[in-house]
Amino acid sequence: MMVTSLDGRITEGDKPGTAWASPEDQSIFHAHIAAYDCIVMGRKTYEAARSSIKPDPRKQRVVMTRRPDLFAHEQRPGLLFSADSPQAIVAQAKARGSTSLLLVGGAQVNVSFIDAGLVDELLITIEPLLFGNGTPLVDTLRRTVPLKLIHYEQLNDQGTLLARYLVQKPGQ
Ligand SMILES: NC(=O)c1ccc[n+]([C@@H]2O[C@H](COP(=O)([O-])OP(=O)(O)OC[C@H]3O[C@@H](n4cnc5c(N)ncnc54)[C@H](OP(=O)(O)O)[C@@H]3O)[C@@H](O)[C@H]2O)c1
Repeated sequence: MMVTSLDGRITEGDKPGTAWASPEDQSIFHAHIAAYDCIVMGRKTYEAARSSIKPDPRKQRVVMTRRPDLFAHEQRPGLLFSADSPQAIVAQAKARGSTSLLLVGGAQVNVSFIDAGLVDELLITIEPLLFGNGTPLVDTLRRTVPLKLIHYEQLNDQGTLLARYLVQKPGQ
């Protein structure tokens, strides 16, 4: 689940965070965080959002980093720093009883999960903004990923759009 500018950027230039996202997007985002059992994010996304994350022992938040040892001091309920592969993270979430996993970026972890064939759907808010530069929705992918639009709606008068896509896997 991601919010982008119309030109496909998830950050405004090199500024971290999504202060530019509409209230309508943020309300849908928080509803999804509440509804999913397991939330997965990259280390840079965690650092950008750290102060707004409300630790909850009932909700597993997995932060992907190749240096989990650097976060040993940062123990918060439900928070796990992991250098494991996307496949292992999904298997561990299932073993803990999770039935739903929400990947919330950024671009680097999005690629890891998409390349591993582990993303079923994309839920993208497109804000009517042009940034011209910034982090793209995904970094370089191994191959083109075909999508099928299954839902879209306009969220406000400014023209924020919400689009849900199915990721079409080989043979679908
Ligand atoms: N618009 C949106 O919806 C949205 C959503 C999320 C984030 N953001 C923004 O995007 C920016 C962050 O995105 P980003 O693409 O630069 O970084 P990111 O994907 O959040 O984090 C990258 C880091 O994740 C770790 N990582 C990535 N793949 C891994 C793998 N396969 N195994 C283990 N660790 C892995 C590495 O951490 P280490 O370097 O520690 O090893 C890597 O440096 C922030 O500014 C954030 O605010 C926007």
